Amino acid sequence: MARIPVSVIEEIKERCLIEDVVSRYVSLKRAGSNLTASCPFHSERTPSFVVFPATQSFYCFGCGAGGDVISFLMRIENLEYPEAIRRLAETVGVSVPEDDGAPGERTVPRKRLFEMNTEAARFYRGMLFDERIGAEARRYLSGRGLSQAVIKRFGLGFAPDDFSMSRHMRSLGYTEDELVTGFLMKVSERTGKPYDLFRGRVMFPIIDTSGRVIAFGGRVMNGTEPKYLNSSDTPVFKKSRNLFALNYAKDNCSEEMILCEGYMDVISLHAAGFGNAVATLGTALTPEQARILAKYTKRVILTYDSDAAGQRADERAIGLLSEVGLDVRVLKLNGAKDPDEFIKKYGPDAFREALSGSSTTFRYKLGSIAGKHDISTEEGKIRALREVSEYLAGTGSEVEREIYIGQASDFFGVSRESIKNDVSLIIKKRRYAKKKTEAADIAREAAGFGDRVNRDKLTQLRTASCEESVLGMLIAYPEYIKEVVEGKTALTADDFGTEFGRRVFTAVTDVYRENGAFDVGAVGGDFTPDELSRIVKLAIGREKLGNGREVFDENVRALLAERERQRSKEDDAFSAIMRLREKNNGNT
Ligand code: CTP
Ligand code: MN
Repeated sequence: MARIPVSVIEEIKERCLIEDVVSRYVSLKRAGSNLTASCPFHSERTPSFVVFPATQSFYCFGCGAGGDVISFLMRIENLEYPEAIRRLAETVGVSVPEDDGAPGERTVPRKRLFEMNTEAARFYRGMLFDERIGAEARRYLSGRGLSQAVIKRFGLGFAPDDFSMSRHMRSLGYTEDELVTGFLMKVSERTGKPYDLFRGRVMFPIIDTSGRVIAFGGRVMNGTEPKYLNSSDTPVFKKSRNLFALNYAKDNCSEEMILCEGYMDVISLHAAGFGNAVATLGTALTPEQARILAKYTKRVILTYDSDAAGQRADERAIGLLSEVGLDVRVLKLNGAKDPDEFIKKYGPDAFREALSGSSTTFRYKLGSIAGKHDISTEEGKIRALREVSEYLAGTGSEVEREIYIGQASDFFGVSRESIKNDVSLIIKKRRYAKKKTEAADIAREAAGFGDRVNRDKLTQLRTASCEESVLGMLIAYPEYIKEVVEGKTALTADDFGTEFGRRVFTAVTDVYRENGAFDVGAVGGDFTPDELSRIVKLAIGREKLGNGREVFDENVRALLAERERQRSKEDDAFSAIMRLREKNNGNT
């Protein structure tokens, strides 16, 4: 792929500030001129992830992930470099020169898809309110207790059991290709022709927090399968990254949110006055969704079904939600399978009461651990307690542990002291084990072992360290690249001993030659995310050091001298071998 011009990269970065983009995923706290957060790329309790607005870069001092806004997006959304650039460029309306990809692969602009979805939602709604066509669907919805007002608020609709949607949309100028891209039509495997995907279904539009229709869910009104059909991912919709009704809930949820399984649960809850309910979109909770929730609220109450599958979903969700710092509670409803049914049967007040009695994660945990062992026997109880202690050893603050130990002691009828002792023992053991591996890691790293980014570091420790200084300065202060490119500083790729150093130097100087400027975003396509992290680390590493001209010259001199030393060592070895050869030859 041809490199993207620095001017385009700069334009994107000016409009997509890294602090804004990052804060969509983690909550940033100011620390002097920088911002910190718990790293989204590894699990940690004390924040070591730093965003540097001044250089528009980020670096995690815990796991070593680093880069600019582009590589941040690559990592967090698991995208390739061109795709990350395209996403950012699109959101701010910068045009990126197209790679001459295969013709026909041109994508439909996102704006067009949003408009198309809005038109489709309008069509489905029109059908629902059509006297004749929508009669059965209206009956179904009111049979499920939805008022006219609620139906309108959620923009519900009806997809007739025919091909009138595509007919209508084509009359508005949308092509079959566009309808297929937006997942409103699907190409039949049998006939190769596209057909209307949602037919004979009540339609639930999915609306993002900017109020745009991004996808649909559709439910049958009889017992046919599948009960629900949902849009697959499209260029404007990733189901792993959206939540149903978040567009409404986001204004009602600063304290807590209710997380449900189904569309109907959410709608019933909103109708009953619980405007802070959201649901995943036919999938289990994802880490991205957990991060989104953490952005809007402090506490999440899970209301999954109480069957075995629901319990597994609970466990998983608890893990994901606690990891992003949310207080998680689990609501168990008695006498109903889901919130929708519960509210129908017992009313909103009963639900409110159930909510206030939702158990904290730990009580829930205690219950589920106890359920796994036969705690009527001594051994069963010991095993259960053992598991509880293991869990507590990995939990939160000392204060929290203190409270939980109290609860566990009441629950099992064992003294606080004995649980506390067990827990501290486990904590000590884990600390010791961690220290040992950390010490080993540090020693290995110092010796260049285990450096997966710069593999030559092991054999060329001194060269590598000189290279790092020089490269760090080049990247942090592109005026030095200019010096090199213009030949004012004599330095070439051959002066670099490690392969990684040589590649970085080549990419950096190439970009400067092509653009008369440098931005680390322009080499994003040349390196892996780990390599990019290292490149950014080199630049950040220069921050607290002197970076004047003399320092640069001195670093270059040191690198050249080190390389010279290496070469003469090799030469020495070479002539020694030659002398030995001659001697041997002379002997024969
Ligand atoms: N779901 C789905 N595909 C299915 C079944 C379910 O995507 N074939 C998703 C839908 O998002 C649905 C949620 O899983 O809302 C919960 O499913 P389920 O518990 O079966 O349905 P309810 O929400 O109770 O739906 P209803 O009350 O309409 O029967
Ligand atoms: Mn239901």
